[in-house]
Amino acid sequence: MRMYDVIEKKRDGRELTESEIQYVIQHYTNGEIPDYQMSALLMAIFIRGMNKKETIALTMAMAESGDQLDLSSIQGKKADKHSTGGVGDKTTLVLSPMLAALGVPVAKMSGRGLGHTGGTIDKLESIPNFSTTLPEHTFIQNVNEMKLALVGQTAHLAPADKKIYGLRDVTATVDNISLIAASIMSKKIAAGADVIVLDVKVGSGAFMKNIEDARKLASLMVEIGNGVGRKTVAVLSDMNQPLGNAVGNALEVIEAVETLKGKGSKEVLKLSTVLASHMLVGVGKAENYENASKSLLETIENKQAIHKFEEFVARQGGDVSYIKDTSKMKLGALTRDLVAKEGGYIQSFQTSEVGVAALLLGGGRETKESEIDLSVGIRLHKKIGDKVEKGERIATLYANEAQRLEAASERMEQAYGMSKEAVEPPKLIKEIIE
Ligand code: URA
Repeated sequence: MRMYDVIEKKRDGRELTESEIQYVIQHYTNGEIPDYQMSALLMAIFIRGMNKKETIALTMAMAESGDQLDLSSIQGKKADKHSTGGVGDKTTLVLSPMLAALGVPVAKMSGRGLGHTGGTIDKLESIPNFSTTLPEHTFIQNVNEMKLALVGQTAHLAPADKKIYGLRDVTATVDNISLIAASIMSKKIAAGADVIVLDVKVGSGAFMKNIEDARKLASLMVEIGNGVGRKTVAVLSDMNQPLGNAVGNALEVIEAVETLKGKGSKEVLKLSTVLASHMLVGVGKAENYENASKSLLETIENKQAIHKFEEFVARQGGDVSYIKDTSKMKLGALTRDLVAKEGGYIQSFQTSEVGVAALLLGGGRETKESEIDLSVGIRLHKKIGDKVEKGERIATLYANEAQRLEAASERMEQAYGMSKEAVEPPKLIKEIIE
């Protein structure tokens, strides 16, 4: 088999066989197929698409491209959650300690930022000394002893996805339903959880811009997950504006911690609770969503969730004093306020542009190798539907370089729309697909 022929076949819009897909994944993973040929194939897939059979073959080839995590030594049913990628999405940081506080084992592998979207692992690294890598036995031991461990995707787990993910990020081949479904489900299948809850983002900051595409992606992933014996549910949630008020790694950790302390964003708490309640019901620890949601919210009120988060940070080497007092978190030294030029209501966000502005500040990766600045980002003071007076602050940008601050401010100025009429905020939870 030759990679050239596979590229040509897909370029011409023909269906790839299971063995062709396995050949590509195996030989790209072991380095025999170079990045330039894989990039060409990804672009052909992006333009021509893959059918369901091809997507399932791609998912399984990627899931089997390395180790599969054996979580059988963790007692009880394990639940995992994955987001298709958004701006300001810090739900993992909130829902994981809530679930762990209720005794649900959370053995989670998370990703880094991709394109204009953030990643949990980058966020956690803004806590000084926090380690996002643990030996497998420590990972399992932490989950058994305190119900929560969160690490970066190891090089051995779905290594094909790790390589392809990095390549897609810099070749404009991210937002394709088959590639996203295979990327997410290969990791989730290899990571071994019994219950998988997917947060499929819809809107101007998501890879899926409209509800029809989001439904297609969600149904495909739910079908793949259930097809291999993992109970899979998808929640379609709004990404027509950033989630909560913080965008940027350290800023998002602060918002997540404040939410766990009961003082943060209502939106972040709402989405975290909905996702977690599906996980709780899925593992059989709650009879229905109302009970699940009530128990989860109690972990905020009785402080069990924030205590669990502190315990988790300490276990993974992080400096807990930054969680106890989030004003210690390092933020960009240069700030600029964006103020309203006239009064009215916030009508819309070009949410991906907010993500790009954060990236321009230095908070995201422009190439696979880019170092990111964890202390930069954007704080939104106003969201869709909020009334704004002339001269009032809409957002504050945090940076460390004047040039970056300039470029990001220009981008942010274009990233929101105003209306003279009152505007309804978008509905946060759009649909559930089981
Ligand atoms: N998240 C993933 O893990 N993979 C994608 O392709 C997109 C979002």
